[in-house]
Amino acid sequence: MAKRFVDPFFPNRPVDDPARFAGRITQVDEAVDSLFQIANRNPRHTIITGDRGIGKSSLLFQIRRVAQGDNRLPQRLGIDTGVEAFDFVCASHDAAPDQDVGILASGLLRDLQSTVRNFLDKFTLELNLGGVVNVGQKTPADTSIVDIVHGFCGQVENTFRGIEKQNKTGLLFFIDEVDRLPLDCGIATFFKLVTEKLARDGWTKTGFVCAGITGAVQDMENEHASIFRVFRDILIPRLEPGEIEQILNDGFKNVSCTYEPDVIRRTIELCAGFPEPVHIIGSEMVSVDSDGCIDIADFENAKLKVINEVRRNKLQGMLQQAGAGRYQQILNAMATYDKNYVPLHHISSKLNLEQNQFSVNMGDLIKKNVVSRVKRGVYTFVDPLLREYIRTFGPINYDS
Ligand SMILES: Nc1ncnc2c1ncn2[C@@H]1O[C@H](COP(=O)(O)OP(=O)(O)OP(=O)(O)O)[C@@H](O)[C@H]1O
Ligand SMILES: [Mg+2]
Repeated sequence: MAKRFVDPFFPNRPVDDPARFAGRITQVDEAVDSLFQIANRNPRHTIITGDRGIGKSSLLFQIRRVAQGDNRLPQRLGIDTGVEAFDFVCASHDAAPDQDVGILASGLLRDLQSTVRNFLDKFTLELNLGGVVNVGQKTPADTSIVDIVHGFCGQVENTFRGIEKQNKTGLLFFIDEVDRLPLDCGIATFFKLVTEKLARDGWTKTGFVCAGITGAVQDMENEHASIFRVFRDILIPRLEPGEIEQILNDGFKNVSCTYEPDVIRRTIELCAGFPEPVHIIGSEMVSVDSDGCIDIADFENAKLKVINEVRRNKLQGMLQQAGAGRYQQILNAMATYDKNYVPLHHISSKLNLEQNQFSVNMGDLIKKNVVSRVKRGVYTFVDPLLREYIRTFGPINYDS
């Protein structure tokens, strides 16, 4: 039996250690600038957007650290925070599809109350926003968003009065997965009204930092057209090859492994710029390795293990969800292409069909979150491991 060690990769959780957070210099710099603006009474609210699994929650988490005075990440990246250290009071909430604006507002206040209680024993907020909502329960249908906004802003005011003597930088609300709230719940109106009221009433050292899937702001725009003026969008791109190398290098170094350069190249190809598969495959490579040097054989074994065992159910489920017949043919055609970004004409020639004969199917695959559109006429798998799965096991043949 091989010696047991702590896995240096972490596919299942956002990055907590700033030393393990790869790349994203521009995005961190923008976020730090927002904090600086808020600290100086120029409220700037941000929304971090990007694909599923691209690293939104990780960035949100790192910003919260900086906001609470942890300068390790900006220091490592050579980013000036403009102050010695921020000391924001921070409250967080994770949005979910069964929530509404009332639940969101009271959830934020509940976390705020417990944060402030760390330094003010008896600090109490009206979590029901002065009786407008029932904490943790669906807000009654006849509740007006304006009442929720007033209740929420009143509690922000109470907080500032409560912490007056504490010399805090300001107040920050972090909301992850904001795209999961039902679109018609009034979230855009809430943000618009709350941010305007707080600015009007002089509580300018308050900011929102949200995260959501690409298109989150655009979706909110359907509800309130001027929402794009409320939030500054920080877009998280795919990782650069050098950043993927950094994640692998840090992980391998952690368990004192060396590696062949080809391993890095193959992982970069496999992961299509997503950090999550880098951690998955990295984790398996160190676990299959037996001699302290990660080589191509370890990479191949790890890849097979991921597709065969670790992610098999998820990938199989995705493939089933795609649908039968032509859907499987399209995915198979995409998997035969040697790059991650597949031009439509490749699929067209493999299927022996004109592009307009399967454009509806492409649209369905996007809706089902199996394929995403990179730009006009170019598509890619949402999960790059699905390509490897199809290459290994083939598409589903419903006839056999
Ligand atoms: N900059 C980074 N450096 C190293 N690893 C990262 C980085 N960003 C994200 N990861 C890793 O990638 C995985 C996905 O990250 P995260 O959960 O932050 O993404 P997400 O965009 O919030 O995903 P989801 O859309 O599922 O909410 C995690 O394992 C995380 O540790
Ligand atoms: Mg997330």
